[in-house]
Amino acid sequence: MFDECLIRQRRFAPARFCAPLAGYTHSAFRRLVADFGGCGALWTEMLAARQVLGEDFQRSPWLRRRPQEGFVFFQLMARAGDPVDRILPRMADHGVEAVDLNLACDAPAIRRHEAGSALFENEADLRSVVLAARRHWSGILTAKIRFGRQQPDWQTRFAERVRFLEEAGVDALILHARFFEDKFRRRVQHELFPWAASLTRLPLVANGDLVSPAAVTSLAEHLRPVAAIMIGRMAVARPWIFAAWDQPLTVDHAQVWGRFWEYCVEDFEPPVAIRRLKMFTKYFAVNFKFGHQFNSAVGSAPTLETARERAEEFLQRGPELVSEPVLAGL
Ligand SMILES: Cc1cc2nc3c(=O)[nH]c(=O)nc-3n(C[C@H](O)[C@H](O)[C@H](O)COP(=O)(O)O)c2cc1C
Repeated sequence: MFDECLIRQRRFAPARFCAPLAGYTHSAFRRLVADFGGCGALWTEMLAARQVLGEDFQRSPWLRRRPQEGFVFFQLMARAGDPVDRILPRMADHGVEAVDLNLACDAPAIRRHEAGSALFENEADLRSVVLAARRHWSGILTAKIRFGRQQPDWQTRFAERVRFLEEAGVDALILHARFFEDKFRRRVQHELFPWAASLTRLPLVANGDLVSPAAVTSLAEHLRPVAAIMIGRMAVARPWIFAAWDQPLTVDHAQVWGRFWEYCVEDFEPPVAIRRLKMFTKYFAVNFKFGHQFNSAVGSAPTLETARERAEEFLQRGPELVSEPVLAGL
């Protein structure tokens, strides 16, 4: 299931992708996932489009990409009036092959910028951004969406948006099957994937609570028409999830955490490295029965070295694992 997916004639195999997560899917994390392998494509964090003009593609942990990462989609948080005529050529000059437009983020700070979900809702701005992006970008262009806001005619609005994105020349859609206002509280409406797929000829990538091979198998009926799946939070908790999808994998948790520590230290200045490490640890901790102890020990560490000592102390004890980690509240 999901062996490969064609997007603009490129073969993505396996068709299991790692989702964009702001604060998490930076260069250090992508490197960790890539070490394990098995992921068809990785996404950057959402990048403020204008900021791309000033960032150093060789050093910035948001833009930097190592060869072993394979195919990386660069996700843009763009809004009407952004100088995409300069931003996108700069990305192409630095070897970027795929751009994803964030039309789904409902965070107030993003909406204030008239980006994310606000852009999806504003038809005129949406047209202006997507058409300009297509005009100035010949590489792969995708859009990440939700169903929109829940209101009586949401299906019509959603279908119109999907039609527009297809006509504008977008190459694939990634659908997190929730409404904007659901945040993560309500369940994902997996049963609506077949309907969404029927609205378009574009490859549809399914996202939301696809946390394990068993979960995906149990949703086979709903996922049949989708071209690929995308995994977010569970990939942060288990960066080996893609590698372990089709075969058993023995994981040395202490080694994984230690490697991530090293990668963070290599790519970030210490104050940012420790923040990123603590954020990652919150997710990684769900693998353990007493993960809250691990999380609070690392979370309260004043320095990177203390964080490492505390993590080693916990992890080298061989802490009891849970068979099915739970992401509730994360
Ligand atoms: C902390 C956090 C940060 C996120 N950042 C982004 C982002 O930058 N861009 C985006 O399109 N979605 C973002 N998302 C949404 C995820 O990409 C994904 O759609 C969502 O987590 C559902 O997938 P999952 O159930 O596999 O986690 C974020 C989600 C979380 C929890």
